Amino acid sequence: MQVRGLHKSFGDNEVLRGIDLEIGRGEVVCVIGPSGSGKSTLLRCVNLLEEPTKGQVFVGGTEVTDPDVDIDAVRRRIGMVFQQFNLFPHLSVTENLTLPQRRVLGRDKARAARVAADNLQRVGLAEKADAYPSSLSGGQQQRVAIARALAMGPEVMLFDEPTSALDPELVGDVLAVMRMLANEGMTMMVVTHEMTFAREVADRVVFMDDGVIVEAGPPAQVIANPAHERTRHFLSRLLDPAMADVEDDNGREGDKGLKGDKGL
Ligand SMILES: Nc1ncnc2c1ncn2[C@@H]1O[C@H](COP(=O)(O)OP(=O)(O)O)[C@@H](O)[C@H]1O
Ligand SMILES: [Mg+2]
Repeated sequence: MQVRGLHKSFGDNEVLRGIDLEIGRGEVVCVIGPSGSGKSTLLRCVNLLEEPTKGQVFVGGTEVTDPDVDIDAVRRRIGMVFQQFNLFPHLSVTENLTLPQRRVLGRDKARAARVAADNLQRVGLAEKADAYPSSLSGGQQQRVAIARALAMGPEVMLFDEPTSALDPELVGDVLAVMRMLANEGMTMMVVTHEMTFAREVADRVVFMDDGVIVEAGPPAQVIANPAHERTRHFLSRLLDPAMADVEDDNGREGDKGLKGDKGL
């Protein structure tokens, strides 16, 4: 997957200001950065939920930003998982998985049901096939949302803060599924602030601020030894918000707190 010179404005607000990013097949890239820095907009441009103002996006050699592109064909190749799971409440878990397969891929009922069952198995929820979303925990609902995306057979999976709406004790099961996908060789772009996941699973970490990529590299570099002050400041806030407040009072004291007891 490749992003070239991507710009996106909403009115006068230029939210993405020239993003260049290449993600190789099977690569896992975690995107971190402060709220409002453009992370969600970047994912949404890749998936054509937003139309870029300028620039190009390629997935598997196809330019998805080509005006003549078949949007449905593009979306088939890219799975997206949101912070809010966006399951249909009036449909069972299985129906949530079969509906898009039938509508978008034209699969018959039996085939869609088989693929649904396989993917529920993959995320550890085979026994919830007939349940309704409201009877599931947030973590289970998110795993259903992941299974729904996988059932479409995507080449690339995009995750937008998939665990940030979850109670802390439910985060681990979702991350475990994402870890499994990474191990299976799925190409993944993950906006997350789960730094343990980023450190252990990501091939590369990208730090975004104010619509640009400030730095990118292996986790050991970007997380443990960032080159830029903005990255250091962001990470220190993330790892120790109380410390960040003290820093703010003192006028930003750099990487204090970063190498504390968080195992970095
Ligand atoms: N549909 C939209 N219309 C107008 N402004 C938007 C829209 N989506 C996002 N923005 C603005 O774009 C900026 C970046 O938002 P976003 O990509 O959601 O950042 P992040 O995901 O990093 O928090 C914010 O200032 C936000 O208000
Ligand atoms: Mg966001």
